[in-house]
Amino acid sequence: MRPAVTQLRDSLIRRISDEGMGLDDVIPLWFGEGDDTTPDFINDAAVASLRAGQTLYTPNRGIPPLRQELSTYMTGLHGRPIDPSRITVTASGMAAIMIAAELLLEAGDNMVVVTPVWPNCVETAHIMGAETRHAFLSLGGDGWRLDLDNLIDLMDDNTRVVFVNSPGNPTGWVMDRGQQVALLEACRKRGVTIVADEVYERLAYEQARAPSFLDIAEPEDRLIAVNSFSKSWSMTGWRLGWMTHAPEIGQALAMLQEYNIAAPTTFVQHAGITALRDGEAYVAEIVDRYRRNRDVVYQRLGAWPRIRMARPEAAFYAFFAVDGITDSYALAREVLHKAKVGLAPGAAFGPAGEGYMRLCFAATPETLSKALDRLEPALA
Ligand SMILES: Cc1ncc(COP(=O)(O)O)c(C=O)c1O
Repeated sequence: MRPAVTQLRDSLIRRISDEGMGLDDVIPLWFGEGDDTTPDFINDAAVASLRAGQTLYTPNRGIPPLRQELSTYMTGLHGRPIDPSRITVTASGMAAIMIAAELLLEAGDNMVVVTPVWPNCVETAHIMGAETRHAFLSLGGDGWRLDLDNLIDLMDDNTRVVFVNSPGNPTGWVMDRGQQVALLEACRKRGVTIVADEVYERLAYEQARAPSFLDIAEPEDRLIAVNSFSKSWSMTGWRLGWMTHAPEIGQALAMLQEYNIAAPTTFVQHAGITALRDGEAYVAEIVDRYRRNRDVVYQRLGAWPRIRMARPEAAFYAFFAVDGITDSYALAREVLHKAKVGLAPGAAFGPAGEGYMRLCFAATPETLSKALDRLEPALA
């Protein structure tokens, strides 16, 4: 095996969930998904597609009608024309992140990443043999903040990628427009590509959607914006995402898709068209529900004396520090076995996450309130 692979860290989110999956009566809040299954109007579209015989290979970068629909959707969302030549459909947001790493990184390169962050974003760079450098968010009285000068200082001649996940998993941090403009400028000067993981763009609670690098970048900029059907349409198990990029790299992305998976699943792509066309009411409904959940979690958890947390501005996670905790994985195990609630340990999200825990609040209000009742004796 390549050393880059033997040295990979397993995901602590997977490790704790593997331990807890077989246990009775556990409330699972460790993954980034809700209790809601995919709405039927999307399921029906997939079934109709199967019945219509849409079961054979598709073009590498996705079926033309889905790329067209994504172009219409992205143009509407960002108020700037985004041509289908800039869209590549992928077999999930995760697959898009891996393909971006394959396109941009090799041994000797480095990627600067804003952290704490979902571990998968970092490990893709390591798979390619590249190094990662962490630009740490800090939690102050006014929420999570990024020191942009520090991030820019971390770049050197070997930096190929800056990875920004905003809205952020696990923190709920949202990069503001001013920082986006300044970072884009700094990356243009150095010829560095921004990989913007914007899978939580629609799940924003203080504004209609989170600011996107696509609002400010030109089509030919070195920018890959990663997106997914998983979160906004409750389609985590379908494995469907897309990337928006400069038209010039389309052919290279087509080859990487060819040699990885050929193309995303055919009937899943057809259902994706329906999600985009008919899904706005659904997206609005879940954003409303998650906002209410966010408020309940923040009011209850945030009031416990041992807990320090910011009110999440977006995404669907509470990422909170627990006073006196130095081993978040041990605490996740204790909470799993004693309180019967599945949380993700903060250490999963990089060194800056130690001492924190992540709770996904995309559950039903009843489940969430039961989970908080169970957690109170352990964490308050
Ligand atoms: C920050 C971030 N990026 C990307 C993804 C990938 O989502 P998917 O592979 O389900 O499209 C996730 C899922 O949890 C995520 O949290």
